[in-house]
Amino acid sequence: MRKIIINGGASLQGEVKIGGSKNSVVALIPAAILCKDKVRIYNYPNISDVEVLIDILKDLNVSTIVEKDYLEIDSSNIINTSLVSEKMSLLRASYYFMGALLALFNHAEINLPGGCYLGPRPIDLHVKGIKQLNCEIDLDEGMIKLHSNKLIGDKIFLDIASVGATINIILASVFINGQTIIENAAKEPEIVNVANFLNNMGASIEGAGTGIIKITGVKSLHGTNHEVIPDRIEAGTYILFGAAAGKDLIVNHVEPLHLNALIAKLNKCNVETIVDNNKIIVSKSKKLLPLNIRTAVYPGFPTDLQQIMTALMTQANGVSIINETIYSSRFKNCDDLIKLGANIQIENSSAIIFGSSKLKGTEVTASDLRGGASLILAGLVAENKTVIDNVEHIFRGYGNIVENLKNLNVDIKLEEY
Ligand code: EPU
Repeated sequence: MRKIIINGGASLQGEVKIGGSKNSVVALIPAAILCKDKVRIYNYPNISDVEVLIDILKDLNVSTIVEKDYLEIDSSNIINTSLVSEKMSLLRASYYFMGALLALFNHAEINLPGGCYLGPRPIDLHVKGIKQLNCEIDLDEGMIKLHSNKLIGDKIFLDIASVGATINIILASVFINGQTIIENAAKEPEIVNVANFLNNMGASIEGAGTGIIKITGVKSLHGTNHEVIPDRIEAGTYILFGAAAGKDLIVNHVEPLHLNALIAKLNKCNVETIVDNNKIIVSKSKKLLPLNIRTAVYPGFPTDLQQIMTALMTQANGVSIINETIYSSRFKNCDDLIKLGANIQIENSSAIIFGSSKLKGTEVTASDLRGGASLILAGLVAENKTVIDNVEHIFRGYGNIVENLKNLNVDIKLEEY
């Protein structure tokens, strides 16, 4: 077990380089098995979710070469086996093997995915959508079994614009003779990144990034080299760190267009951001103002930044209301923020934050990935020492975070116990 210890009060200065997107790469890796040639994925992030996926690939007899600059995946000897293991439950994205294996073998068996507990996270839309492709699906004791004699394309309307269901249906459909159409598809940049990857491999996917995606089946896919887009949530996290404690902090290797919702909100609460090509420069606001925020699907304010924004708003002068519309219980971090001195009330699916609060370091626990990042932000501004336990959650999505913060002048260390 490991914990992060932060001595608050430092100004974050210098430059941080943002890595490849977690939620993109966790789909690109399962997607890579759809071709028998070698695939290289550049700009992959150094996070534990990637390590787990590489481990899962081994069970499928898919080999990987992990270089500093790229990850090479070779599926020429892939076998279809039942993916039942604890590692499948370590992350959410293991469910992409449903779509990918089904497309390859007309058959897939996996155990149900895990990931952060953010309240109930059903996969009914994945199941309903894939069933419509003439596939039988059995859910039994934590296992999901999919089988089809012949997959057939259809028009699938998603009741909710789900990122995971959109990608899983795309993966399942790439080889289906004819057309599959997804209506009310999710529009997140990660979906565009995955569709571009598959198209570079020879797939025919139109409309990614819009609400209607059309997949025309092809016979096979070929190898390609592909770059993971910058992680907009990691970038947003460092920008929020900068808004809390930065002094001309440079967040580099970002796609500013993917961060419009965050930048608009920061400008409203008196945090100045300078966008310079792929860099965003941010400093602590002299007088942070409170905000009203509603999380929404892309291009709205991302739920994945909600908890970190909540931590920032503890420092704003006045009352902020943050309404979470994607995961109604994504507030587990608030108990620990309160322990650090914040004044927050949870009412239904909203956090009401009464600021500003002087935070004081104490021992807290990362409840989940983004909740853990919110505690880091609190630790940056808190007096004295903040000790964050259960930090494995944080390493699922933030590569090199302790080293990065050290380089930005933060008194931070990782301790094993
Ligand atoms: N939903 C259903 N049924 C389904 C699928 C989703 O009701 O079958 C609901 C969910 O419960 C949620 C909403 O639809 O209320 C949206 O969920 P979505 O499927 O879009 O989320 P996801 O694919 O499970 C991905 C990211 C999450 C991110 C969400 C929303 C991955 C691996 N995870 O999850 O990332 O919060 O999209 O943008 O891509 C994170 O990075 O911290 C994280 C949790």
